[in-house]
Amino acid sequence: MASTLPPLSLPFLPLLILSTSFASAAGNFNQDVDITWGDGRGKILNNGELLTLSLDKSSGSGFQSKNEFLFGRIDMQIKLVAGNSAGTVTAYYLSSQGEAHDEIDFEFLGNLSGDPYIVHTNVYTQGKGNREMQFFLWFDPTKDFHNYSILWNPSHIVFYVDGSPIREFKNLAATKGIPYPNNQAMRLYSSLWDAEDWATRGGLVKTDWSQAPFMAAFRNLNADGCVQGPLASSSCGSKAWMNQALDAQSLKRMNWVQKNYMVYNYCTDLKRFPQGLPPECSAN
Ligand SMILES: *[C@@H]1O[C@H](CO)[C@@H](O)[C@H](O)[C@H]1NC(C)=O
Ligand SMILES: *[C@@H]1O[C@H](CO)[C@@H](O)[C@H](O)[C@H]1NC(C)=O
Repeated sequence: MASTLPPLSLPFLPLLILSTSFASAAGNFNQDVDITWGDGRGKILNNGELLTLSLDKSSGSGFQSKNEFLFGRIDMQIKLVAGNSAGTVTAYYLSSQGEAHDEIDFEFLGNLSGDPYIVHTNVYTQGKGNREMQFFLWFDPTKDFHNYSILWNPSHIVFYVDGSPIREFKNLAATKGIPYPNNQAMRLYSSLWDAEDWATRGGLVKTDWSQAPFMAAFRNLNADGCVQGPLASSSCGSKAWMNQALDAQSLKRMNWVQKNYMVYNYCTDLKRFPQGLPPECSAN
């Protein structure tokens, strides 16, 4: 973990400084999402600029986007539960409905104070997941807001942290016959909930309820997707992210993250797949 971070393709500092003035241009939680559960534990504040979720022993809370998308570019800034967050999970994912659903997951697994969060990622296609990759972060995600993004276009799915790609799932439907999410609309979901039976060190460390309520905060949601339903836009194909690929510099950065911060990769877990690794592993 000692090597230095290669430069971002965009100047990082100016972006951060600008981000406050962007705030009104980015989405507004009042317009873009519904708080769907948690009996008052989820709150939209500051005229829609901030959303907080909380978790205590009786319940967590969550929200979902009003729109459904078929392809999209979603950015959201999150400040994760601080202090002893062991057992808590903050989830941020896209999902369609039904048994053969597609899903693109970010899950942030809490930890004891001072111990690192794990960023857990997964991709489900046609109801089938088992594609977990996990990462540590190169910063403390509880001190400040950081930008977590999902790019989903017809060629690939890319997970980004502060603009750095950490994982790519390619569309290998035509070449390898691996199902790719390209015909079921997905909604954005986010939640804060308790998973003390598995989240931290595989369930060894339980939630310390004397620290409750636990709280995570969200801002600058920018859901630029191909909206489905009555608001569907026919101009979606012209959005720049529909053709966004990973250039050489982005690939280099992704390799750097994977080399230094990857905790788990299903594609190297031969014990779990004794009959052979999933077919996408040789191509992704
Ligand atoms: C979040 O990151 C993306 C790049 O992945 C960038 O386009 C966007 O401007 C960032 N948003 C903020 C508010 O920093
Ligand atoms: C929590 O910290 C321990 C000790 O550093 C580490 O082994 C573990 O991977 C961390 N994260 C989770 C979610 O267990």
